[in-house]
Amino acid sequence: MCGIIGYVGNKNAMPILVNSLKKLDYRGYDSAGISTLEDELYTFKDEGEIRVLEKSIPDMPGTLGIGHTRWATHGGVCKENAHPQLSGSGKIAVVHNGIIANFGTLRENLKEDGYTFKSETDTEVVAHLVEKYYKGDLEEATRRALKDIEGSYALAVMCKDEKNRIVAARKGSPLILGIGENENFATSDISAIIEHTNKVFFLDDGEIASITNDGMCITDLDGITIEKEVSIIDWTYKDVEKAGYAHYMLKEIHEQPRVVHQAVLGRISEVDASVKFEELDGFKPFFSSLEEISIVACGTSYYAGMYGKYVIESMAETQVKVELATEYSQYIPIIFNNIEKKLMIAITQSGETADTLVAIKRAKNVGTKILVISNSPGSTASRLADWTILCKSGPEIGVAATKTFTSQLTVLYLIALYLGQLKKTIGAHHASELIKKLKSIPQAIQNVLDQSDEIKRCASGIKGISSMFFIGRKNNYPIALEGALKLKEISYIHAEGFSAGELKHGPFALLTEKTPVVALCNRCNSYEKMLSSIVEIKARNAPVIAVADADDNEIKKYVDKVLKVPPASVDLSPMLNTIVCQLFAYHVADYNGCPIDKPRNLAKSVTVE
Ligand code: M6R
Repeated sequence: MCGIIGYVGNKNAMPILVNSLKKLDYRGYDSAGISTLEDELYTFKDEGEIRVLEKSIPDMPGTLGIGHTRWATHGGVCKENAHPQLSGSGKIAVVHNGIIANFGTLRENLKEDGYTFKSETDTEVVAHLVEKYYKGDLEEATRRALKDIEGSYALAVMCKDEKNRIVAARKGSPLILGIGENENFATSDISAIIEHTNKVFFLDDGEIASITNDGMCITDLDGITIEKEVSIIDWTYKDVEKAGYAHYMLKEIHEQPRVVHQAVLGRISEVDASVKFEELDGFKPFFSSLEEISIVACGTSYYAGMYGKYVIESMAETQVKVELATEYSQYIPIIFNNIEKKLMIAITQSGETADTLVAIKRAKNVGTKILVISNSPGSTASRLADWTILCKSGPEIGVAATKTFTSQLTVLYLIALYLGQLKKTIGAHHASELIKKLKSIPQAIQNVLDQSDEIKRCASGIKGISSMFFIGRKNNYPIALEGALKLKEISYIHAEGFSAGELKHGPFALLTEKTPVVALCNRCNSYEKMLSSIVEIKARNAPVIAVADADDNEIKKYVDKVLKVPPASVDLSPMLNTIVCQLFAYHVADYNGCPIDKPRNLAKSVTVE
């Protein structure tokens, strides 16, 4: 977790670094720091968010520098543990994202060599090691230090004696090099540099870059030069601005009509109403003969995976297992037989979630083909995958996933259709109906967004409660789980999602007049059963908020409050219910004064196992 930035150019580095760190602070925000270099190496660090540092930071001269925003792993939150970490003489400065697994041994060895440690971080060993090996060439010293290091890292290193270069290296944590005009960058995430350049190199594991203002040279750990292709990113700086919204989360919720449209764009052939994925061209025989799919993901992406199981199994009649990547990497045995008819779909917005990467590597090692659904071009997950389908949602800055979730649902719906067509489990007429319905979803989402005030009013009634429950069935069961996750992560109110039928198997014991239940009960989806559950809940005095079809005039007889969505098919109502849950969570959190874009203890991309 943590975000790093490095800049070498001809402008004052400090404001550029501060600005980039603001874009990275979703990756960690418990402390931050910057080093710049002119005649001296200047370092400033502070506890708290980058906005705190921004207020207290003095002018720092220099046209090159590095910066860091931290999500603590080794050592508590304090100035000493903030990055940049300096070597003993103060000559080397390092920012780091990742974990140095053998830092304990390295630390003891360095202590024996006479180095003293000022912090509890694993990163400080890197600064000392680079200094130890420094003989006038920062790149060489870094390369040598990396040979001692085990674990994961994205590093940017600078040296007081090298006034026009930073060195960056990567293993297991993301690192992107930005190519500007007389200025170059190294960063954890494109959003930090997109206002300066959209031309990037994606560094791979085991690569080191020596970066000056007029170029960069990428080598491997043996010093062999590596030629890389420039990638052009189709994001703009506007994508990483709040654009007048109070929070990124609210902006991202409101972007969803466009995001769903974007995820569909170019993936439907107008000629024969079929789904096409350029990314999968040439592999139709493999996809049409698939017998089993295993979906792995974490958090919100996992809930998208659960939705994926329903749509793929119903449209393509192919068996799908959904595993939490956190569990897959630990316990789930990989079945070796018939591997050529199996596919793993890994869903990861960031493409950098460590648990998901471990699961991908494990499956890949036994020959499983991997399809990644991600929102991050060039991510580690896509670099491991056989194929990547991009969600094309644009950067998501709010820690709570919103627009990337609906785009994942959209992509999964398209994949289900694609497989259904290949396997001939869906006829041409049916496919064209399903596509037509999907195309109506952006407008339907807009209709839900237009009822924001109603949802906000409903959220204002959530006061003095101990817990909330979200219930749904079938395709809306994952949405109940996601609704609960959204509420708990940004409002800190305890919330749980259940399949509606499960409440009576235990959770009923928790129901009181202070435990509101949000029931996702569109008529397309187990409506009668949902009504039975609602009646049972009401009999236990718990208030019920129904998310129901706009033309359902019956539901209000059963519940305390109705939030309306346009009627949609069983496979598409989840996208609409999701928007209601997101807005509801947002407004509850806002009423409670919570730091919505950066909830406590969380980081956007969880790059540690
Ligand atoms: O980047 P990923 O999709 O792999 O992230 C997985 C989870 O960490 C993520 O979905 C998390 O649960 C969200 N912040 C929830 O809003």
